Amino acid sequence: MTASDKLNDSPIPALLLDWYGHNARALPWRVGPGEPRPDDSAWPYRVWLSEIMLQQTTVAAVKPYFAKFVEAWPSVDALAKADEAEVMSAWAGLGYYSRARNLLKCAQEVAQCGGFPQTEADLRKLPGIGDYSAAAIAAIAFGQKATVVDANVERVIARLFAIEEPLPKGRKAIRIKAVQVTPDQRSGDFAQAMMDLGSSICTTRDPKCLLCPLSDHCDGRKAGEPERLPVKPAKKAKPQRVGTAYWIEREGSEGSEVWLVTRKGSGMLGGMRALPDDGWTAREDGSATPPIQGEWQALGAVSHVFTHAQLSLQVMRLSTAQTPADEGMWWPVDELEDAGLPTLFAKAAQLAIAQD
Ligand code: ADE
Repeated sequence: MTASDKLNDSPIPALLLDWYGHNARALPWRVGPGEPRPDDSAWPYRVWLSEIMLQQTTVAAVKPYFAKFVEAWPSVDALAKADEAEVMSAWAGLGYYSRARNLLKCAQEVAQCGGFPQTEADLRKLPGIGDYSAAAIAAIAFGQKATVVDANVERVIARLFAIEEPLPKGRKAIRIKAVQVTPDQRSGDFAQAMMDLGSSICTTRDPKCLLCPLSDHCDGRKAGEPERLPVKPAKKAKPQRVGTAYWIEREGSEGSEVWLVTRKGSGMLGGMRALPDDGWTAREDGSATPPIQGEWQALGAVSHVFTHAQLSLQVMRLSTAQTPADEGMWWPVDELEDAGLPTLFAKAAQLAIAQD
């Protein structure tokens, strides 16, 4: 029997859950395989927080942020009362900053309602919770039957059922099969087992089929070259943007200080502390207008890759006694780590400090 024959009697859930029983990663936001869900209001909070952090971000990158957040805000009520600037600053370096803005909005809504809703449909209505996160939280936090499809699951299913249709169109067929193999019981463990299998065995480039508990049922393996699946669309080159960031420095009474601003709105890095910049519309000849006049020194450039663009950010330095007219604050250079600069501006700051 192949995996695609009789899904009602599919051996896949039992094989995978058995494998998970021996191979589950111990992660700070999980209970062990088959263990009961804690009867504790902090449990859905931890699952939700981890799932938001894990959107487009690796487990290794998330772990220290998860620890920092649960220490600072151990419950959704505590987070709901937090200051937005503090949350944004604690998120700095994790990327995709709209997640942090929505995190706070979501915590406030949940705290007001007295707790998280338990169904996929109601979770989906909360800020920052999309189809993926709603399914993951419903299944993992509340034991509801839900099918969770992230990039790992997508890869496992595309191979298991030899789904040749390229992404993104192929996602429909992948979802149908994923729903068909999701068991009625333990769908949270099943989802996390799929994720663990995808990240340790059914890996993108070099799947370890000999170690895979599902290999006898894998149509992709039988067809040969399972690593071809899922078929991805050709990557488009990212547009290149150019900008200038300004390192404005003064001698304060306790040492050097740098001028920081808080970025406006909900756009790129909105709400984050940053160096002032030119809006990244400058031309490569450096013809941007700096926030104050003076003897600017060019320090070089840092580059950063965003989802939709690649940015080369020139860094200019000015030592001055003037305070810029725009809103901002002087920040001690030797406490810059506490400013919560997003990675792009942390790189620019490192460049300036290294040339001091
Ligand atoms: N990626 C997203 N959610 C995850 C989870 N619960 N465990 C491991 N990796 C994940």
